[in-house]
Amino acid sequence: MGELSDLRVAVAGLGPMGRGIARVFAQAGAAVVIVDADAETTAAGHAKLLEEADSPIDVTTAASVGDAVREADLFVEAIVEKFEAKQALLAQVRAAGNTGLVVASNTSSLSIGELGRAYGDPSRVVGMHFFNPPTKMRLVEIIRGARTAPDIVERARAWVAGLGKTAVLCADSPNFIVNRVCRPLYYESQLLVTQGVAPAVIDAAVKGALGHRMGPLELLDFTGLHTHLGSSETALREFGDPRYRPIPLTRQLVRAGTTGRAAGRGYYDYSAGKPREAQSAVVRRPAGPEEVTVYRTNTCTPSDVAALRELEGRVALDSSHGGWVEHLPAGVGWVRLHRGGEGLFAEVVADEVAGIEPAYDIADALGAASVPVLALPGLVVDRLGWTMINEASTLVEEQIATAEDIDLALRLGMNHPAGPLERLAEAGPAEVLAGLRGLLECFGDPRYRPAQLLVRQAAGAAR
Ligand SMILES: NC(=O)c1ccc[n+]([C@@H]2O[C@H](COP(=O)([O-])OP(=O)(O)OC[C@H]3O[C@@H](n4cnc5c(N)ncnc54)[C@H](O)[C@@H]3O)[C@@H](O)[C@H]2O)c1
Repeated sequence: MGELSDLRVAVAGLGPMGRGIARVFAQAGAAVVIVDADAETTAAGHAKLLEEADSPIDVTTAASVGDAVREADLFVEAIVEKFEAKQALLAQVRAAGNTGLVVASNTSSLSIGELGRAYGDPSRVVGMHFFNPPTKMRLVEIIRGARTAPDIVERARAWVAGLGKTAVLCADSPNFIVNRVCRPLYYESQLLVTQGVAPAVIDAAVKGALGHRMGPLELLDFTGLHTHLGSSETALREFGDPRYRPIPLTRQLVRAGTTGRAAGRGYYDYSAGKPREAQSAVVRRPAGPEEVTVYRTNTCTPSDVAALRELEGRVALDSSHGGWVEHLPAGVGWVRLHRGGEGLFAEVVADEVAGIEPAYDIADALGAASVPVLALPGLVVDRLGWTMINEASTLVEEQIATAEDIDLALRLGMNHPAGPLERLAEAGPAEVLAGLRGLLECFGDPRYRPAQLLVRQAAGAAR
């Protein structure tokens, strides 16, 4: 007997998500009934579901969605992502007359409030956003519409716990938590490509320094650039904020049909090998550490340069946003050091005057794996890190989710070793704010406008 043996669940839509959701409920002991658009697709979905299950499961089929929900406690819809289709389906569910039913949608982008109106009783409609594949991913984002009743949200949370999964709570806002906080990760990595940094370098830096399992460009290729472009257009329309506008390069690649892995080419050329191979090729791995003086600074003013000249031996400037190349004295390498999952990881800066050799020399001496980057504010890693922190701070500021839930969501939904607000606590709000202001000054783009919460936190920390 599983945790949910008293629960009766109806699932509509037997694509990969609906099948996975039906399976996790059945495995937790719930009585599950499934339905797709017609008898034929329902039968095919049922057969596929049984074939996918690693242990025998008991799932029944219904002839119509009305039949499926009549005796159910919970209805989960996972049909195509089209409002009109979901609207028609919800009207059929409502017509079945089960007033005690909790109605959950697995939508990735539609408004729960609007689906609530389509159902006719918004108080009973909640978002249950499972991640793909539902059988493996532990996270479920629970979305409360403006009129969702609190006890319905609580019941959804309790059922998620009964599945052995973790629920995070989110207000009804486009992209919810994980996909929203990751927006700048995708935008900034593509902007960096436009500005001359190779995709393999960006992905290798993110994996080596931030411990992400996949680099952002590899992930974009995997999802499909057309899908990303669509979600960027939606974000721009919904938020009405130019910071969400799509990157011209994305549009260009989509128009050329190079939409990613499925197309054979996107940011990587899949006929030339795996992204992992291209990434290893750009990482330099030295033999072991030697003696080096590391001078940590966020700016590089003439007085910093004077201080550097006082130091003996090899000197590394550990800075991501302040290294004005013309201030760097000869022999000083500009590197940004990160304590990654596998030890020290360095971004080495190709300096216009000194070249890259002094920086490589220093990274090697420190025993740090390294990638070559361009002298752009925030280099690669901090720029992606700061903008994600800023997005996460905006969510907290707008009361879309709590800091704890955001960190949990990024850890479980994206396998990030630390959440963005944990990273904020580590770096300190003053450093992140200074970094964002540096980007804003340099590029004049509202993408880098700091969240007011961050401004207040930095002011608070200074007092
Ligand atoms: N694929 C993902 O990674 C992912 C992740 C999270 C959430 N989602 C969301 O989950 C939902 C389903 O995603 P998917 O990738 O499994 O979709 P899919 O398009 O692969 O499958 C949808 C299924 O719904 C069926 N269907 C269509 N209209 C129907 C109707 N009126 N009644 C019953 N069944 C109907 C289709 O026949 C099909 O089997 C979407 O809302 C999507 O946005 C998807």
